[in-house]
Amino acid sequence: MNPISKSIPKRGHVEKTRGSAVYVCDYPADGLLFGRLLRSSKARARILSVKVPQLPEGYRYIDKKDISGSNHVDILDDNMPVFADETVEFVGDPIGLLAGPDARIVNELLGKIEIRYKELPAVFDAKESQDVFFDYGYAKGDIDKAFAEADEIYDEDFETGRQEHAYLETNGVIAEYKDGKIHVHGSIQCPYDVRRAVAKATGMSPQDISVAQDVIGGGFGGKEDVPSMIACQAAVAAVQTKKSIRLILDRKEDIETTSKRHSSTCKYKAAVKNGEITGMEVEVLYDAGAYTTVSDVVLRRGMLSAAGVYSIPNLKVHGQARKTNTVPSGAFRGFGDPQIFFAVEMMMTHIAGALGKDPVAFKLAHTAKQGDTTPTNGKYHFPVPIPEMVRRVLEASDYSRKREEYKFQSGRLRKGIGMSMVFHGCGYTGSVEQDFIKPVVRLHKDSGGNVEILTAGIEMGQGLHTVFVKIVARALGLAPEKITHALPDTAKVPDSGPTIASRSVMVVGELLRRAAEKLKKEWSDGEEQTVEEHYKHPEFLIPFDTKTLQGDAFPVYSWAVNAVEVEIDTLTGRISVIGAWGSFDVGTPIDEGIVIGQMEGGFLQSIGWGMMEKVTVHSGSIRSNTLSDYMIPTAMDVPNLRVMLHVDEYPFGPYGAKGAGELPHVGGAPATIEAIQNALGMHLNKTPFLAEDVIEALKEVKE
Ligand code: MTE
Ligand code: MOS
Repeated sequence: MNPISKSIPKRGHVEKTRGSAVYVCDYPADGLLFGRLLRSSKARARILSVKVPQLPEGYRYIDKKDISGSNHVDILDDNMPVFADETVEFVGDPIGLLAGPDARIVNELLGKIEIRYKELPAVFDAKESQDVFFDYGYAKGDIDKAFAEADEIYDEDFETGRQEHAYLETNGVIAEYKDGKIHVHGSIQCPYDVRRAVAKATGMSPQDISVAQDVIGGGFGGKEDVPSMIACQAAVAAVQTKKSIRLILDRKEDIETTSKRHSSTCKYKAAVKNGEITGMEVEVLYDAGAYTTVSDVVLRRGMLSAAGVYSIPNLKVHGQARKTNTVPSGAFRGFGDPQIFFAVEMMMTHIAGALGKDPVAFKLAHTAKQGDTTPTNGKYHFPVPIPEMVRRVLEASDYSRKREEYKFQSGRLRKGIGMSMVFHGCGYTGSVEQDFIKPVVRLHKDSGGNVEILTAGIEMGQGLHTVFVKIVARALGLAPEKITHALPDTAKVPDSGPTIASRSVMVVGELLRRAAEKLKKEWSDGEEQTVEEHYKHPEFLIPFDTKTLQGDAFPVYSWAVNAVEVEIDTLTGRISVIGAWGSFDVGTPIDEGIVIGQMEGGFLQSIGWGMMEKVTVHSGSIRSNTLSDYMIPTAMDVPNLRVMLHVDEYPFGPYGAKGAGELPHVGGAPATIEAIQNALGMHLNKTPFLAEDVIEALKEVKE
């Protein structure tokens, strides 16, 4: 193990566990106005009128008429209005904001606002939607020939459900207005993105806007787009009232109105010749919800993984993200991968079954190797450690013996075990870092030799502060105690890009390592010094075209092999996970304890998405709107979860590190559903799969 991997106490941990950490809701409320959003109760409607009652002094209603800039939230595309324009497009769409000094009175007044709507036809199923937000396709080899020459053709559809982030802290910001300047702080994953959005909505210069991150109670991708929206709303209200506005969503509101993981339908068709898959045709459909937000990226990332970890010589992939009148879908740990990997893993297992082969052996026979071309005619430049990782997981889980044993079961309790093999592309796709993000980091050394790390990277539980400090400490040969990374404020830190796509360690961490090397060379005792480092694109990459999806989508991949074992009560349907094993390769773990924590948490989240978490939607409104209706797994639900690390160092990442944070959320669901189908002895093709689905499935068998 690389010496850097040895764990040190996690930064911020003590404050969080003791309760002294200051979250946005902990800020004193004196002098602040409480903001609350007036939201649509209709899935799609024209707003005919909004009648606001006489407001007491100090209370204000703000809507689109008060926007001095542009009524668009800048998130990649900008089709989401800050406040509804002519129409509302989902239940919960913000129409206006009521602000005032007393939260109770604000709530009371909000209930007295009368909205008249003319309801319009709404679409709730992406399959029925005519409104295509994004459409992409790519191909490799000759798919028609593969099908023409096939011995067998298999096709199957796979469905995955939405997922709620269920972070401990809901979305919230405070927008402060002072001397013509705006300062926004709160639970924010991407401070510079929020600043850009606020500038557009207020029409102010970015120089007059600063955005800072408060301690965050988890993000998981859910604080990528939503903060831009609520920051715009709060900022517009702050400009109008010349006061500070506190806009913090309550749990129900957060679940009902903020982004979810995209639900999906993936159609797979595979050509098999001489027992091998020679071609795959994949049709991907993601439900984007009412506005585009980050669906473009999520769809494309998903599509790039359509062939899973396998080398399929002939491939054709087409994908769309379509509009529905439901809450906008957004980023969620795994960024489009969990949906598609669920489909391809189930497909591979089902084909293996049809051919009478063991699924693990069948999958291994198709696994890509270093040097192979990727689906997009890029290259797997670095090792593909799947076979070795499979070996370890087989051994740890006793998979083969269990598979044999579970073949013939008849009692009330039945067991099953399943396995998945997945990857996650590290960082942004293609040349986005070089062309758009252009990240910059800075190190500042004071005269006492203490070093401050200046990046826009945010700590949301994934251990970024600790990891950055360790990288800089190692490069400088200093003790970590001499190094700090404060919560970022755009007024002080350079734009090192957003904290998403598991890019921070690999991309920003490498910039910090280089900055530290530079500082070390120039080090002068007793002097104040600053060094800066800019992004350099790795030269080995085959250029990637973001429209045609050709070339190296990612420089390198993180890999995982997961096995899950379940026991099912066929009388009640109850599914118990009795074992979970994962081998993960994220390159060098910069801190072993943190990486293991990341793998355990993500793996558990992924198993939860497979067999527990269900976002229930009726006519476009989310009914599972509390954390007792929407269940997430706890450690009690998967008591025997075991994580192993496999290390294949990435020479272009800091000390060999690759992306880590999202990988564990990719493979848990397929492994879980494979285990359930192994126990029940049937083919399954959807997540989530709950107790009621077990009962339904068993009923069908009886009939
Ligand atoms: N871990 C915790 N504890 N809390 C989080 O919110 N977010 C995940 C992952 N791990 C998250 C987490 C997501 S969605 C991403 S993109 C990565 O962390 C970001 O980590 P990195 O860019 O620092 O690698
Ligand atoms: Mo993570 S979904 O990229 O914030």
